[in-house]
Amino acid sequence: MTDRSGAPVVVGVDGSPTALDAVRVAAREAAARHRPLRVVHAFIWPLYAASHGPVPAAPPDAGLRQEAEKLVREAVDEARKVSAELAVTGHVVDGAAAPVLVRESRDGALLVLGHRGLGGFADLLVGSVAVHLSARADCPVLVVRGEPRADGPVVVGVDGSALSDEAIGFAFAEAAQRGTSLVAVHAWRYPRPAGPGDIVPLVYDAEELAAEEERVLAESLAGWTERYPEVPVRHRLVAATPARALVEESTNAQLTVVGAHGRGAFRGLLLGSVSHAVLHHARSPLAIVRHRRGGDAS
Ligand SMILES: Nc1ncnc2c1ncn2[C@@H]1O[C@H](COP(=O)(O)OP(=O)(O)OP(=O)(O)O)[C@@H](O)[C@H]1O
Ligand SMILES: [Mg+2]
Repeated sequence: MTDRSGAPVVVGVDGSPTALDAVRVAAREAAARHRPLRVVHAFIWPLYAASHGPVPAAPPDAGLRQEAEKLVREAVDEARKVSAELAVTGHVVDGAAAPVLVRESRDGALLVLGHRGLGGFADLLVGSVAVHLSARADCPVLVVRGEPRADGPVVVGVDGSALSDEAIGFAFAEAAQRGTSLVAVHAWRYPRPAGPGDIVPLVYDAEELAAEEERVLAESLAGWTERYPEVPVRHRLVAATPARALVEESTNAQLTVVGAHGRGAFRGLLLGSVSHAVLHHARSPLAIVRHRRGGDAS
């Protein structure tokens, strides 16, 4: 089991303005959690085809490494502007972004990324590194969109699953730390089969169902409201698909929080369909929470 009691907040940077937004958010998170901040740039040497003859010990990089070190230095300076007391270190790590950041996430308390980077496909909503880490990181991932904002509530998606419970815990801690309220969203539409082969009734009482869904929401929040009595909580029971409801609520939020997957049928999925849709369409920074492979660390 990894001991993450002194674990840093990690932020990935690639020289893009969006990654610098991520640095400012990461610096605030690290300061609020009393953790160090680790700024990481994954640097991959220009690749050479093996057929070109003997591979030099270190390929000529035309100053690329110095560029990488410079962009990390700039990111570290940006973090120090947020908090002068913050312990910040900058690192250029050899390797491709996705595997380097997955490794970083094993010892991290939180991984912060921009929703986009330097990639060339202008119409992408979320870049490939952010998508990969949202599904595979071993710590919570915060995907940042735009400048950090201090207004609006923290929004959390609740579905009664174990992971949504972790997401609720994360969301309460964030709301408490930011001094804001929490909006707990539970979306439902039709009677759900309780298990495989279950038969859904053709006739049902909508009011009774709504009361049942409200019970799911209230029970999911019960322990947490006792633990964070200072956080005002609003219940939002919405008759819509969960992804649509969460994207809608994310518009006015300063942070939206979901579990990496819910109580859906495909438990092997690394990212559930709701989390996947919200990752692509959320209108504010999104935290994706998952069970840790190496034990608890928050
Ligand atoms: N080489 C890297 N090292 C560290 N972090 C990175 C690196 N590349 C991307 N990131 C992080 O991931 C975030 C999202 O970038 P991503 O690469 O996913 O988007 P993109 O460049 O727009 O798309 P793509 O690379 O898929 O074309 C960045 O804002 C940054 O936080
Ligand atoms: Mg990229």
